[in-house]
Amino acid sequence: MSTIQLRTEIPGPKSKALAERRAKAVPRGLSHGTPIYVAKAEGAWLEDVDGNHYIDFAGGIGCLNVGHRRDEVVSVVRDQLDRFMHTCVQVTPYEVYVQLAERMNAVTPGAFAKKTIFVNSGAEAVENAVKIARAYTKRPGIIAFEDAFHGRTMMTLALTSKTHPYKAGFAPFPGEVYRVPFAYCYRCSYSKKYPSCDLYCARHLEDTFKRVVANEEVAAVIAEPVLGEGGFIAPPPDYFEVLIDLCRKYGILFIADEVQSGFGRTGALFASQRYGVEPDILVSAKSLGGGLPLAAVTGRAEVMDAPGVGGLGGTFAGNPLSCAAALAVLDLFEREDLLARADEIGDHFQRRAREWQCRWPIIGDVRGLGGMQAIELVRSQESKVPASEETKRITQYCFEHGLITITAGTYSNVIRVLVPLVITEKQMDEALDVLESAIAAVCDTKCAIAQEV
Ligand SMILES: Cc1ncc(COP(=O)(O)O)c(C=O)c1O
Repeated sequence: MSTIQLRTEIPGPKSKALAERRAKAVPRGLSHGTPIYVAKAEGAWLEDVDGNHYIDFAGGIGCLNVGHRRDEVVSVVRDQLDRFMHTCVQVTPYEVYVQLAERMNAVTPGAFAKKTIFVNSGAEAVENAVKIARAYTKRPGIIAFEDAFHGRTMMTLALTSKTHPYKAGFAPFPGEVYRVPFAYCYRCSYSKKYPSCDLYCARHLEDTFKRVVANEEVAAVIAEPVLGEGGFIAPPPDYFEVLIDLCRKYGILFIADEVQSGFGRTGALFASQRYGVEPDILVSAKSLGGGLPLAAVTGRAEVMDAPGVGGLGGTFAGNPLSCAAALAVLDLFEREDLLARADEIGDHFQRRAREWQCRWPIIGDVRGLGGMQAIELVRSQESKVPASEETKRITQYCFEHGLITITAGTYSNVIRVLVPLVITEKQMDEALDVLESAIAAVCDTKCAIAQEV
């Protein structure tokens, strides 16, 4: 039996009624990718309030690598609920927080002494990483990248690249943020080609220190090892080595924002490990909490201890329910071969997507690392003009046929895969069949229109 089951028109009557209430009660600034309202979710699928079943390629935007409502996660959260829900770790601390910090220090890359603090969201974790880097280096500057996304708070918006809809209208942002091009090889800012470029984009940092900001004024370089919202861009294998060597040369910290690329998505617990990189500070969130809100900042012990007592924290930061859930998530990664599964999902997607690329010129690029995969859609493979409108139509078709997808990229022309890693092969095929029909429908319509003209 197929996982996708559509029983009503999409969206159904109950979802429509909720959408009307939402429009009156909730500001429009909070966008929604689909107009359906969820009743239940399990593994890699979800059911809406009208009884329709969908395959979920979004996974709560990469928060459900271990699957929706994993029994093991639900059960430890229930146990924790029966003991206590909140005390504030700054008032009366609890063991799960310390236990999770110990586990994070052990599983993050780098054999050096580390410490970890927990907060509520990815953005809050990035904010804290910046505070810690500045406190340690006593320097103000932060270098961030084009196409980066680091969150929606004011400092993280300053670090984020995409203007609409994230930044426009919200200025002024905090200062001392400097932006340089990322290793987006498909659209190289320097019109070069890897490997003959000799990683010019990474080496160009030296030039930035002469022309933009003095190296002795830079506290940290912050990068997503694989860009998330920016379009699932995985730099060449030797990129970070060059970048980090330059950071070390000038006493600059390297912060890896692994909020989206972390927790098994790329076939390693952290994408940094796939690049052989040991960040000074690593930020994780999303799938860390197995569906509950939690984020972590892990770093070299001496760096993490730079802020004074009371300089870090937050009322709900490191909530015991979320910490318990994260311990169960780490156990699952130890017990089950979810990392190998991420690679299998990636291979499965690539096999199908490469066939599509031969058939349809709209598929400009197929890329990713492990289970963090995407296609970038273009008007033609030669012009590379972003096919943003077509991307919207493809995701809409998918949704109407029972597959929840989300887009990414500065031009909103990338379709990304963040499906829970517990998806079965059969479900994966079913989902990719829908995506294939969606591309066919949009491309064939385009051909028909072109013929008429
Ligand atoms: C790389 C990265 N950093 C930070 C964030 C912000 O995380 P949050 O939405 O939990 O604040 C995100 C969210 O998508 C992200 O992908």
